[in-house]
Amino acid sequence: MKQIVVIPGDGIGREITDAAILVLKKAAAKHNIELAFSEYDAGGAAIDKFGEPLPQATIDAAKAADAVLLGAVGGPKWDSVAPHLRPERAILGLRKALGLFANLRPISVPASLAEYSPLKPELVSGADILIVRELTGGIYFGEKFEAQEVDGVMTAWDKEYYTRPEIERIVELACQAAQKRKGKVTSVDKSNVLASSRLWRKTAHEVAEKYPDVELGDMYVDNAAMQLASNPKGFDVLVTSNLFGDILSDEAAVIGGSIGMMPSASMGKGTGLYEPIHGSAPDIAGMGIANPVGTILSAAMMLRYSLDENEAAETIEQAVEAVLADGYRTADLYREGMKKASTMEMAEAIAAKI
Ligand code: IPM
Ligand code: MN
Repeated sequence: MKQIVVIPGDGIGREITDAAILVLKKAAAKHNIELAFSEYDAGGAAIDKFGEPLPQATIDAAKAADAVLLGAVGGPKWDSVAPHLRPERAILGLRKALGLFANLRPISVPASLAEYSPLKPELVSGADILIVRELTGGIYFGEKFEAQEVDGVMTAWDKEYYTRPEIERIVELACQAAQKRKGKVTSVDKSNVLASSRLWRKTAHEVAEKYPDVELGDMYVDNAAMQLASNPKGFDVLVTSNLFGDILSDEAAVIGGSIGMMPSASMGKGTGLYEPIHGSAPDIAGMGIANPVGTILSAAMMLRYSLDENEAAETIEQAVEAVLADGYRTADLYREGMKKASTMEMAEAIAAKI
């Protein structure tokens, strides 16, 4: 029996995790996988109940589980709470507590969805990028100085900080991922300006020497932002720091038309965590119209990476493709002539293909 901790979180989190669980159960039944689900609080939901964004009970359960499925955290309701109590602390705290140093964000554009892209269809059709984002280091976890008057001037700072072992392990993972793909890694940094990036670049090349079958190239982050929009098919695996990866993965996610479609896996030595790339979308929360596909595909990644159930993962991925090919679309992707589906209708249509 595999233990799955479910953290719905805030906003549309409940709707999309419910939808993903429905599909997961169907795939598990088909492939004779026994799953047990238990629900825990984090984010704004936990602030409201317990006065803190990441209760110890949630951390303990996550550590003991085989995998964590997370919806989304945050919302305007908690915008004015103290920085250390913000809902986002929950996801950052979980990443740190579980040692999730690698965040995998695959972005692919099937030909059927190329017309939804804000970019020209011929530019994006067939694009297939794996963003490997460092997740427990850099400016996110470096020393901080909250705004305070220093010599009469309000001042605040955050420290971008990387060690060689932190860079090594993420670039290793990127190279290994590339070996199973097209064998190309683009390491993204800002080494023309930042000392931390110079260490990043040097270390990346030293690691890549151990992978003669992998071609490593470097790119400055500003150029990478442009290349993602002008030539997305030029990328295979893109590896980068925590902050750059956060920004570039949102950019890359819209290449496929909707950020609602994009899954992610966060991995380290222990329990893995799976969540869609998008946020809690408070503006549409509770309306039953959110796109559940990003969460459903995250559940597929969970089957593949944490439960070693590759066939079940493929079953889900193929079911998603089949339902899209049938014309089912949630509101974010709806166009005339398509079959408009609510969050649950989309999940049911996907489950029905399994
Ligand atoms: C993400 C999110 C988080 C991040 C937030 C919610 C802290 O934007 O997973 O990309 O910045 O990492
Ligand atoms: Mn982000």
